[in-house]
Amino acid sequence: MEIRRVAVIGSGQMGTGVAQVAARAGFETVLFKMTKGPIETGKQKIAKALQREVEKQRCSEQELSETLGRVECTNRIHDLADCDLVIESIIEDLEEKKRLLGRLEDVVRESGIFATNTSTLSVTALAEATRRPERVIGLHFFNPAPVMKLVEIVPTLRTDAAVLGAAEGFVAKLKKTGVVIRDFTGFVVNRLLTPYMVDAIRTLQEGLGSIAALDSAMQLGANHPMGPLALADFIGLDIVFHMASNLYEEYREPRFTPPPLLRRLVLAGYLGRKSGKGFYDYGSTPPVPNDWLVGNPT
Ligand code: 3HC
Repeated sequence: MEIRRVAVIGSGQMGTGVAQVAARAGFETVLFKMTKGPIETGKQKIAKALQREVEKQRCSEQELSETLGRVECTNRIHDLADCDLVIESIIEDLEEKKRLLGRLEDVVRESGIFATNTSTLSVTALAEATRRPERVIGLHFFNPAPVMKLVEIVPTLRTDAAVLGAAEGFVAKLKKTGVVIRDFTGFVVNRLLTPYMVDAIRTLQEGLGSIAALDSAMQLGANHPMGPLALADFIGLDIVFHMASNLYEEYREPRFTPPPLLRRLVLAGYLGRKSGKGFYDYGSTPPVPNDWLVGNPT
């Protein structure tokens, strides 16, 4: 089962990153824009990211233009008909994802593989909503996709062995390391990372230390590339909230419960880097009032 033409659905940060990696690895790549707006935006982001690679002398001008030549942007579902692999990377909403797969299976060739980049939804639930559950698999990439070396490969009870083999081969061609994980919520990384971030937010709520102190402690004391609160801002506080909620829903363990502070931040639009403010201020005002972040709010 040879994969030559790949579609990535959703041209957000993850989708664009995955499309960049696929095109650079030599796959014909179709980037499908789900939301309104110019369809070429994703390709422009890829061009910008590759230009930085050229400046750092990790990519030649020729490789840049060949990579971009392999990226096609569209918002017409019929352009995906002859794709061998479709990776969905749309919002984390099971019903939205089911609807999308429903549309795709009417169009994409019978031999096509459907992969989901979900972080904490059930691959099985998605697969079972299609007419071809044996051709559905999880391919979970990490942010930023061009940098992070891991992909969690998540077959369900019904995924065809040939589909798993093709997915493993695809990940290897991306020069990423694939680990095969069972379809239990959060797989490995988010199951372990989410309670860690959530616990950091809880300790902040308790007034254990300042944001900078907590992040420095883990960055310098455990050699993590970023502290847990900076990481939560980086992932998006709304996403962390949903991941924690989904994990709690599955396992019913208190360690997964989203802390009240996280819920309030999300409700108030403090979503982290993407909204310009979260635990840190990324240039937009007003920042989160200090008494909400250190010590118990009164
Ligand atoms: N796209 C492409 N390359 C990027 C990038 C991006 N968005 N952001 C950073 N990079 C590259 C830079 O070019 C740089 O390369 P170089 O050092 O070889 O020149 C390298 O990454 C380091 O970048 P910076 O020097 O700008 O910044 P940092 O050293 O602070 O690294 C980081 C940034 C790579 C994001 C690093 O802090 C890190 O690894 N953080 C942890 C990220 C992480 O844990 N991600 C997983 C989140 S969980 C997830 O994604 C699951 C999902 O389901 C929620």
